[in-house]
Amino acid sequence: MTVMEAAAEEQKSIQMSGRDPQAQPFFAVKDLHAYYGESYIVQGVSFDIRHGEILALLGRNGAGKTSTLRTIARLDDPALHRGEIWLEGEPVHRMRSFQAARAGIQLVPEDRRIIQGLSVEENLTLAQVAPGTGWDLDRIYAHFPRLAERRGQEGTTLSGGEQQMLAIARALARDLKLLLLDEPYEGLAPVIVQEIERILNEIKELGITTVIVEQNAVAALKLADRAVILDTGEVAFAGTARDVLDNAELRQEYLAI
Ligand SMILES: Nc1ncnc2c1ncn2[C@@H]1O[C@H](COP(=O)(O)OP(=O)(O)OP(=O)(O)O)[C@@H](O)[C@H]1O
Ligand SMILES: [Mg+2]
Repeated sequence: MTVMEAAAEEQKSIQMSGRDPQAQPFFAVKDLHAYYGESYIVQGVSFDIRHGEILALLGRNGAGKTSTLRTIARLDDPALHRGEIWLEGEPVHRMRSFQAARAGIQLVPEDRRIIQGLSVEENLTLAQVAPGTGWDLDRIYAHFPRLAERRGQEGTTLSGGEQQMLAIARALARDLKLLLLDEPYEGLAPVIVQEIERILNEIKELGITTVIVEQNAVAALKLADRAVILDTGEVAFAGTARDVLDNAELRQEYLAI
């Protein structure tokens, strides 16, 4: 076979498989090592995500899930000492947190960070001040009717579940390419969890690439396409969400479910 023929063959096999082995994944972290001061916490984490995929990042308490999300969002703590973070070919590992946000990485932290003294609507419009806006208010209110009803209410007086909705809505109001959700169901009553699940399913339908961290692993796995399980800052397992749901040993060892 000549070189030209080999190239044509390869092109054909790529077209048939629908995947280019040379193509960059939409998002990838490679060998991340991050520290809080002297404490070595994220110890060589690697994974990648295709466009529109939902990845569940799971593991026991203290496994390093929040630290991994914070590292990806380029917050000051933990400090990234080694490794690479790529979003659509952009080197996020070379960015500061505001640049990562501008590049489309939006972290919804566990504590939600609703801004005191601002109404629901003001919290949302403030999120749209940054260049490259996302959803407009009409679109947000169509997906979050509870927020529409409470648009004039001070954000910090919302219930826990409503604050979670506002935190997610605020990420959607920004230029969003990768959504990082840290325990979106934490501390919420089952009926509110269902409502947040509905919203996350809508987000999934829209093809928004997402990493979800959840103690409620079953709920996260129902939503996710793939799963990564962390154990003491390292990847203990990577596979499909189905693989984890079907593997009792794995669930017991790392997730206690
Ligand atoms: N600011 C900090 N300074 C020092 N160590 C920290 C800090 N924040 C977290 N750690 C440590 O890093 C490790 C990983 O914490 P992290 O919050 O990433 O875990 P997690 O998987 O999100 O756990 P959880 O399920 O409890 O939220 C833990 O041992 C924790 O004590
Ligand atoms: Mg955490």
